[in-house]
Amino acid sequence: MTMELLAPFTAQLDLGSGQLDPTHKRIERRLMEMGDAYLEAPDADTLVYEVFNLQVPETNANILSCTTVLQPGKVGREYFMTKGHFHEIRDRAEVYVGVRGQGAMVLATEGGEHEVQWMQPGSVHYIPGGWAHRSVNVGSEPLAFYAAWIADAGHDYGSIEQRGFPVLVVEEDGAPAVVPNPRYGAA
Ligand SMILES: [Fe+2]
Repeated sequence: MTMELLAPFTAQLDLGSGQLDPTHKRIERRLMEMGDAYLEAPDADTLVYEVFNLQVPETNANILSCTTVLQPGKVGREYFMTKGHFHEIRDRAEVYVGVRGQGAMVLATEGGEHEVQWMQPGSVHYIPGGWAHRSVNVGSEPLAFYAAWIADAGHDYGSIEQRGFPVLVVEEDGAPAVVPNPRYGAA
């Protein structure tokens, strides 16, 4: 069997900022492009999160990885969060490692099972295939985490845009609380 040999490489993860160096791709999400994700309409086009990727070929022989830096903030009672996605190839797994800040990872299956895990520096989260995932910044500083996944997994954001997650993470009396999503399942 022949295989394409990639050159090994090293990148540096800045534990303070969460940024990767070198990074080959940067995605930026602002509130206005994900406004429907929140129950209340946002009133400003604030930067919510940035993604810093390592570039490798997107095949199932490789592992893609990135850091995400999610700013603190809220829309109504909902904390700033990522869009959330299933993997297009549903059985592809992923690992998250908390780098900075305090967060919640909301996980859900297509059948409506759900779970919330708490993220902090050093927390390691195994996301098995079939579980959609979204990160939420429940703290007052940026939330940064590193994620690595099988490179051909792909991102299915549309299913989450249509159905949402079964639960939301909101601020209640100054602390994060997990509450049912009143719009869950609405197409
Ligand atoms: Fe993922």
